[in-house]
Amino acid sequence: MYDSYGRHIHYLRLSLTDACNLRCVYCMPEVMQFRPRKELLQDDEILFLLCAAAAEGVDKVRLTGGEPTVRAGLVNLVRQIVQISGIREVSITTNGLLLSRLAQPLADAGLRRVNVSLDTLDEAKFRRITRWGTLGDVWAGIAAAEAAGLRPVKLNSVVTRGYNDKDVVDLARLTLEHDWDVRFIELMPLGSVSGFQESAVVPSRETMGRIESVLGPLHELPGYSGHDPARPYRLEGAKGTLGFISSVTEPFCAGCNRVRITADGKLRLCLLRDGEVDLLTPLRAGASFTDLCTLIRNGVAQKPWGHGLAEHVIPVGRVMSQIGG
Ligand code: 5AD
Ligand code: SF4
Repeated sequence: MYDSYGRHIHYLRLSLTDACNLRCVYCMPEVMQFRPRKELLQDDEILFLLCAAAAEGVDKVRLTGGEPTVRAGLVNLVRQIVQISGIREVSITTNGLLLSRLAQPLADAGLRRVNVSLDTLDEAKFRRITRWGTLGDVWAGIAAAEAAGLRPVKLNSVVTRGYNDKDVVDLARLTLEHDWDVRFIELMPLGSVSGFQESAVVPSRETMGRIESVLGPLHELPGYSGHDPARPYRLEGAKGTLGFISSVTEPFCAGCNRVRITADGKLRLCLLRDGEVDLLTPLRAGASFTDLCTLIRNGVAQKPWGHGLAEHVIPVGRVMSQIGG
């Protein structure tokens, strides 16, 4: 599929649930009302939508949340998604808490890779950010993912001023010993927590400077496609890579190749714009396969160029956990 700016859209991020077993401060308010299950896409509805999306050219799917591993029947769902004709890669973004028991079954079901969120190596800070998580669970999850062959493991760190802006050096240091891709993400303002988020953004340039001042120069790696939001770098002699996702200070909309489907069945055209196309209602009203293909294709054609953060246009409809990042 191509949007009206000629961008090739073939990557779909599908949120399996808005619920989560953590409450990260930058993602959602502490008291969060999750959607009733009947308002979320059911497995058969997901498979039907993905078949339509694949027929329109989607070949890469990432499962997100909330926290996708809290969805019942995940392994079975992955096994079926992997079999859809045209989809060649299925991966997941998770906080890692449940990976120690799910990594192997997911790998056996055909999952290709995992991205694990990890914002700090410090137990107390981890608890302050996630409100109640335990770091050991994430480590066990990462180890299980590696053992199951879900490699290379990518680690995502959202850099939040006053919470983990000093921890980026320790996180970057992980790549010296491990062939992991550690990616630092600028905090993006969304929904009801946007006031806090705007005040806590750390520009990628600042994060890079902090890392270089302790660990030495970052070397840019050749072969960057322009579609991955993170341009890759490597520290001298490191096994893994570092990436910086600068959505706020250096938007990468020109290389965008993706759309999202929320857990409640809306085609979200841009992470940082409120515009959505309802797929759930037509689906439940008996829309045909062709109808859905048309809805998806026409939706993609309306994909906005990019976000309006520079003009202080902040999406208000949802917080991050309701879109899936
Ligand atoms: N800005 C940037 N990244 C965010 N995430 C959650 N909320 C935000 C935000 N406001 C990240 C999580 C996880 C991924 C799903 O999105 O840390 O890595
Ligand atoms: Fe859950 Fe991820 Fe949001 Fe944290 S950032 S509350 S782990 S969905």
